Amino acid sequence: MEILRSVVVLVHLIGFATLFGSWIVEAASGRREITRIMHWGLAIALVAGLALAAPWGLDGDPNYMKIGVKLVVVIVIGALLGIGGARQKRTGEVPAALFWLIGILTVLNAALAVLW
Ligand code: HEM
Repeated sequence: MEILRSVVVLVHLIGFATLFGSWIVEAASGRREITRIMHWGLAIALVAGLALAAPWGLDGDPNYMKIGVKLVVVIVIGALLGIGGARQKRTGEVPAALFWLIGILTVLNAALAVLW
């Protein structure tokens, strides 16, 4: 059970790496586009995160307050990806504030995971 949970944590981290990595590539290249791979990263992190939020009965109760906050942040990131993607289709670019917020909120969720 412990190994299985560790594998789910690994998948969760792969989702995080996929989302944040693809965002970094866009930020560093100056293109600032929203890409399909960002949506994939978010979906992977979300599904694995929800699985981790279940009570695995390993070491005490999960911190539901923290999990709830992370879930809200993920929903906001998803909304920003959706809105930004639609804007990009219509006007050819993503508003700068919206693009940066996606990266900041992604780091915020990782920070919540390790610091809270
Ligand atoms: C962009 C979204 C997310 C990012 C960047 C993220 C990031 C992380 C990171 C870096 C860890 C590892 C922490 C550690 O090993 O100490 C982690 C763990 C965890 N995450 Fe997330 N997360 C996200 C979304 C979610 C969501 C939506 C949920 C649940 C609804 C969730 C639930 C958890 C749980 C329960 C753990 C603890 C795993 C353990 O016990 O080691 N995460 N997250």
